[in-house]
Amino acid sequence: METQDIRSVIGGFDKARAEIEKRAETGQDFANEGARVKTQIRALHPKRLTLTVAEVIEETATTRPLRLTSYEGGLPPFLAGQYVNLFVTVDGVETARPLAISSAPQERGHYDLTVRKLPGGFVSPWLVEGLQVGAKVSSTGPMGSFYVNPIHHGDDLVFLAGGSGVAPAISMIRDIAARQLPVQFKLIYGSRREDDVIFDQELAALDAAHDVLTVERIISEPDAGYEGRTGFIDAALISELCGPIDGKTVYLCGPPAMNAACTDALREAGVPDKRVYIEANGPPVDPTRRAGWPESVAADHTVTITVKGQGSFEMRAGEPLLNALERAGYNIENACRSGECSLCRIKILSGEVFNPSEAKLRQSDRRFGWVHSCVAYPLTDVEILL
Ligand code: FES
Repeated sequence: METQDIRSVIGGFDKARAEIEKRAETGQDFANEGARVKTQIRALHPKRLTLTVAEVIEETATTRPLRLTSYEGGLPPFLAGQYVNLFVTVDGVETARPLAISSAPQERGHYDLTVRKLPGGFVSPWLVEGLQVGAKVSSTGPMGSFYVNPIHHGDDLVFLAGGSGVAPAISMIRDIAARQLPVQFKLIYGSRREDDVIFDQELAALDAAHDVLTVERIISEPDAGYEGRTGFIDAALISELCGPIDGKTVYLCGPPAMNAACTDALREAGVPDKRVYIEANGPPVDPTRRAGWPESVAADHTVTITVKGQGSFEMRAGEPLLNALERAGYNIENACRSGECSLCRIKILSGEVFNPSEAKLRQSDRRFGWVHSCVAYPLTDVEILL
């Protein structure tokens, strides 16, 4: 029996060999192609962008979308709902904050990053009050998996937003309107006060102009005489505004407490977890109120962190380890600062650390002592390896 060359039965082998031979004749080779592909990938997914603040938009008393343009050329494309991690130095501390892009992907000349000043915040007041037009900042390229995926998400979409969590929602809405996507999109948007509502006029105009878009706003602390919807986004309100919701895809982006409450409400309404996409907005504000936090440890309990071979510093148990590491001058790779991306992983050599539900740890991480430092809270003195 004649032996068959195995290569001739591999799908596409003959075609690939013919292409290689043809390119050899014309002087092209695949090493050049590889370099060209790498250049294209770097342009689409750059590790760092240098940006200029082109405009600071007064949106509400506490919220300013920053319009950023590229200092070096074009900006990479993004999907509506994605974020960039903005690197800043505040009071001498090198840190970063992930900020959702609120502009539409069709606006290729800039990214709008919507920042709300948080009372007692470390970075947000500096971003809102300290960044002036002309300032230069750097960021990652667009990141994250929180975007509309028409193949997997279907055409009946609900977005539950709280506060500045409306930023990715308006990018999605602007995108749907620009591309006239064949979806139904309902935004249920909770704010404390009427004058806290971000993008209020534009949302109302988009709602009026597009049958596929509906915007419902909810105010939790209304002024006397306010006639709109009041209260919080809960199971009863979701059911009233959405009807049966178990077949819809839900996006959720708000403060951690709202995300947790809405997740429970959606489970109660029969929405499977796999149809709920959550964009955490930073670490828990108060980890001591989370399930599993030991009653005996106060948020201001002081612990010592020893970085093996490098030194030690003190911090409060109730703050994320990443924040304290940055303050002590350690530079840790990070992006989401919400427990999702795992870029900030560090190894705990000894001591006890609290990991809230935001920390998306793998079983092997838990087994070998890895934590996501952006949402890890040391309960005792801890030794770590960087
Ligand atoms: S920065 Fe993404 S998990 Fe910590």
